[in-house]
Amino acid sequence: MDSIQDRINYLKNLILHHQHQYYIMDSPEISDIEYDQLMKELHQLEMNYPHFLTSDSPTQRIGGFALSSAFKKVHYNIPMLSLDYVNNKKSYMEFHMRLHEKLKKDKDITFCCDLKVDGLAVNLLYINGSLSQASTRGDGKIGEDITSNIRTISVIPQRLIGHDIPDYLEVRGEVFMPHEGFKKLNKQAFRDGCKIFANPRNAAAGSLRHRDPFITATRPITFVAYGLGLFTEGILPRSHIECLQYLKTCGLPVSDYLCLCHNSKEVLDFYHYIEANRSLLGFDIDGIVIKVDNLDLQVKLSSTSRAPRWAVAFKFPAQEKITRVCDVEFQISRTGTLTPVAKLEPILISGVMVSSATLHNFSEINRLGLKIGNHVIVRRAGDVIPKIMSVVQSSSYLDMNTREITLPMNCPICNSRIQKLQEEVVARCTGGLICAAQIVGALKHFVSRKALNVKGIGEKLLAQLVKNEYVKNPADLFTLTLHQLINLEHIHLKSAQNILDTLNDSKYTTFARFLYALGIPKVGEATARNLSDYFGTIDRIMNASLVTLMKVDGVGRVGAHNIKNFFNEKNNIEIISILIENVGIYWK
Ligand code: IVH
Repeated sequence: MDSIQDRINYLKNLILHHQHQYYIMDSPEISDIEYDQLMKELHQLEMNYPHFLTSDSPTQRIGGFALSSAFKKVHYNIPMLSLDYVNNKKSYMEFHMRLHEKLKKDKDITFCCDLKVDGLAVNLLYINGSLSQASTRGDGKIGEDITSNIRTISVIPQRLIGHDIPDYLEVRGEVFMPHEGFKKLNKQAFRDGCKIFANPRNAAAGSLRHRDPFITATRPITFVAYGLGLFTEGILPRSHIECLQYLKTCGLPVSDYLCLCHNSKEVLDFYHYIEANRSLLGFDIDGIVIKVDNLDLQVKLSSTSRAPRWAVAFKFPAQEKITRVCDVEFQISRTGTLTPVAKLEPILISGVMVSSATLHNFSEINRLGLKIGNHVIVRRAGDVIPKIMSVVQSSSYLDMNTREITLPMNCPICNSRIQKLQEEVVARCTGGLICAAQIVGALKHFVSRKALNVKGIGEKLLAQLVKNEYVKNPADLFTLTLHQLINLEHIHLKSAQNILDTLNDSKYTTFARFLYALGIPKVGEATARNLSDYFGTIDRIMNASLVTLMKVDGVGRVGAHNIKNFFNEKNNIEIISILIENVGIYWK
């Protein structure tokens, strides 16, 4: 086995490599959770074996930030510090008590609470009200000059508004990318075959530290101010929240969620309120920041070399966790598409036990490179269905006995054949007329106005008919009895009789309507009319080759395959023949 020192050296090198990938290349190879786990392990080993701790260890850096040679260096007189953090009520209360201990004489401490936005810290230097330099946090003492890039962010004023502006003013805040912009950017990147960003923070970092400010200008990044660095004294107030309010009057964006709290209960209420509404914000946060509001008290409390003693970040429980995929099952949607669902080793994610996650479609499985048995990162955010973000790459997770995921040949519900065409993302069950998973949707379409036009039969009634097992396919609709209908909720004798009458009337239709009613994917009303005109009889369509089908206006390759597969399914043919021969549906 490796010695402790070997393991520490291994972790240090590995972490440095991943820091380079993340901060310089903007191209992380592992997820944030895996990175945090490496850091945690190194930290733990250094705590247990302090004689192996060296000043160049990644654990001793303020933010783990490496500096790129692409940017000029900027030195800070007031360092850009990190924040200590707590992640449960007990450790938050310890912070709270510690402050009260230290500030015994000052009984009433007011806190200014804010969101902990997940982006990149920047320093904006305004001289005589003009933006003269902007820089990243870097290692906290030396940052990178990114002035040209920052000038492209429209919410950051080039000149501050107002008369009473300190000659020298450093504004500190966070550059970040809201969700909407992030989604658009990645969608476009995918279309253009460019790099896909792992998360909004990464995309913001890549955009902000791009060598070409013209590229930065096209990226949907924004900024929020959360504090001050060095500034000429005299003009600004002596409370944090008032300083931020002042910045707002100067034209700088500050958070809409600032909250003054006068005791720990108010802080905890704010924490719970923000956590509950986190998914509605439209951008990523990973907790709240609690700061002593009075600047004189901040000075009194001072800072360590790493973080201020007057502030703490209260982090939310992780929305992402690592677990193992035990199996993949396929569910059939109401429109017949197959959705792969990963069955997971149950895991608690932000208070909820998660045991399955959607995989959307087969391309998603290929994109992730997922196999059964893999360890994966699962995300559960708000009420959104848990999602697999990526397969864990870190060598600490050895995936034994992995198995390829294969698309089933037959529908797990009705056993009809599964169709997956190359040009379609989704796979489909071809048993449109008999599949129990699709039947309510299929019946709703069958009776709809442009199909057989059976009035008075809505989705609720159809669901009741299916639930009571009166109807399993469209042909069964025509065998319904008065007795069965009045047995259902909210159906009176008169409306039951009306339903039977309209069903009877609907038997006389047109060939085009009948074709449309079958609900073959991609055969809409117009295509059904063209098919009806071209072939004239159902037998001719059934026997048509793919090439012939494609001659019909509106029928492409996918449509032709859908028609062929639909009529190749024995169960569908059986229902069609019952509809025509037994029920007596006819057209001229
Ligand atoms: S105050 C001296 N307030 O969190 C206090 N930081 O872990 C410095 N951050 O580098 C930070 N939102 O990038 C503060 N409302 C907020 C914040 C915030 C996000 C980031 C910032 C900082 C990191 C510290």
